[in-house]
Amino acid sequence: MLPQIVATAYLTALREGGSLPGLVEADDDGIYVVKFTGAGQGPKALVAEIVVGALARAIDIRTPELALIDVDPEIGRREPDEEVQELVTKSAGMNLAVDFLPGSVGYDRNFDIPAAEAARIVWLDALVANVDRSARNTNLLIWHRNLWAIDHGACLRFHHAWGGREAFAASPYNYSDHVLTAIGDPRTVHDQLSALVTPATLATALDLVPDEWLAPDPTRPDPRAPDDPAAAREAYVDYLSARLDAAERWLP
Ligand SMILES: Nc1ncnc2c1ncn2[C@@H]1O[C@H](COP(=O)(O)OP(=O)(O)OP(=O)(O)O)[C@@H](O)[C@H]1O
Ligand SMILES: [Mg+2]
Repeated sequence: MLPQIVATAYLTALREGGSLPGLVEADDDGIYVVKFTGAGQGPKALVAEIVVGALARAIDIRTPELALIDVDPEIGRREPDEEVQELVTKSAGMNLAVDFLPGSVGYDRNFDIPAAEAARIVWLDALVANVDRSARNTNLLIWHRNLWAIDHGACLRFHHAWGGREAFAASPYNYSDHVLTAIGDPRTVHDQLSALVTPATLATALDLVPDEWLAPDPTRPDPRAPDDPAAAREAYVDYLSARLDAAERWLP
């Protein structure tokens, strides 16, 4: 399980993020970026954050630690912005906390990164179909001179419309839109990384996701969606295993 913490204060909204994440203090005295269940894509985006974050860690990509955070909407009361008030109210209960990297700056191409490190990130993004690593919006941070990957909520698009396993598995990846394509070639790391992303690695990643975010979403009915959290975990493992098996279709 992920650590469980309680939000004690809402500090500010991170307006660069489309989903309006909040900077929040928690009862362990840590500061976290909170991604809210009530934001646009709902809990699915948080499932993608957890699963892809775990896969990133498994293949030695730096990504901030995650925790489950209990949010009482009272903490947003002093926030003057109505949009924030509404989001925090809609998100009462469990949300996702991302360890805040203080003083980090957005990656730009003037920062040197080793080719192998770039290749691991490009490989992971191609595997999980991440569309959010462009030059305009890199979702990569530099912190203490190292590269950190954040914002994996838009990955695993298959969970927004279940039933397309083969199409997802074989869909090509748009490398031309990835900020690290010119630096790292995923083919150079494929054998090494695909050996690390085993069915057990995938199952362990899914075990981190709370049941309530895997249950069918009554507000977005999908007749082909898995019936319960256990079936959902199996389905994610199955889709990602199928994509790994189809690597020749999505490698550059
Ligand atoms: N762990 C972190 N430490 C420091 N800054 C962070 C962290 N997470 C996010 N940020 C900052 O907040 C911004 C928004 O976060 P994030 O990209 O996760 O949100 P989002 O709403 O999913 O964004 P997008 O608009 O890309 O979909 C980031 O671009 C970054 O500047
Ligand atoms: Mg972002």
